[in-house]
Amino acid sequence: MTRQSCAEYFGTCPNGEKVSQITLTSGSFSCQILTLGATIRSLLVPDRNGMPVDVVLGYDTLEEYLSRDGYLGATIGRFANRIAGAQFKLNGTTYPLAANDNANHLHGGLKGFSHRIWTVEQLEESSVVLSLHSADGEEGYPGNLTASVCYSLSEAGLTVRYRATSDADTICSLTNHSYFNLSGHDAGTVLEQEIMIHAQNYTPSDAQSIPLGCIVPVEGTPMDLRTPVLIGAGVDSPFPQIKQAKGYDHNYVIDGQAGALRPAAQAFSKATGISMQVSTTLPGVHFYTANFIEPGRKGKGGCAYGPRHAFCLETQHFPDAPNQPAFPSALLKAGQEYDHTTVFAFGK
Ligand code: BGC
Repeated sequence: MTRQSCAEYFGTCPNGEKVSQITLTSGSFSCQILTLGATIRSLLVPDRNGMPVDVVLGYDTLEEYLSRDGYLGATIGRFANRIAGAQFKLNGTTYPLAANDNANHLHGGLKGFSHRIWTVEQLEESSVVLSLHSADGEEGYPGNLTASVCYSLSEAGLTVRYRATSDADTICSLTNHSYFNLSGHDAGTVLEQEIMIHAQNYTPSDAQSIPLGCIVPVEGTPMDLRTPVLIGAGVDSPFPQIKQAKGYDHNYVIDGQAGALRPAAQAFSKATGISMQVSTTLPGVHFYTANFIEPGRKGKGGCAYGPRHAFCLETQHFPDAPNQPAFPSALLKAGQEYDHTTVFAFGK
């Protein structure tokens, strides 16, 4: 494949900005990335018979990406998940942020990284580097920040490397919000798929999904996913944390040392034989069971998505970390480099 053939026109935003789609290939794997939000639009993985299965939810058109909520496949920044009261304090100054989820800040605000057009810096057959400049004060965050995400596809899976630097102290937590269905994006619910999360602890949250600030053991509760279980076994549990969130929508404290690439989670579909192993250098992973995708939402190829039609494994700093002294710090100091990697590896 020639370099030119890897990028094609996808659509034009109402303000005239053009969006491209990049196709990465490696053996029997392929992946489509949009410059809008550095979004993963498709990820084709061979099933047990070697047939390609698209394991991520997405849309056919740019209009749908711009008008629908849920952040399907997008890169989230400057700060993934919620910041309570849409503000945080840093070096004695309080920074008010855009409030876009009740009174809270969610996934980077009104026009977070998921809704920006990223620049293609480097494009090869199986990898791409996209970058973004986020100005001082954008969505309320301090510091001019330059971020990049590198996707590299191999026959082992997809590696995502996030890098960022700022000219002033700021906070940073970048993630990818892919909705996975290992039976195929259009295969219905994931209740019969297995999940395992390498976490002895999680961070419980309140009715608005704001962390309570404590770190508690999963032991003895349906939050315990340390051995593989069907997603359907716990997702409708009356356990208060699950009931209040209408399913799983929780940050797990990944075992081991943050900073080192270590196993975070794994999942498996008996229907296709596809398994996925997620590892990361980040401290947490958010397990979300697509609780708020309304029934009948139109997806790729005109199929219908709905609640529990996918699961997300969003590797991240803990939600609300900037306001929670007991959580690992999400501070990015001026001139330092944010450098984190998440690997989505597939087997069959
Ligand atoms: C959040 C959910 C939210 C979803 C889509 C997840 O990361 O934790 O509460 O509904 O993203 O915005």
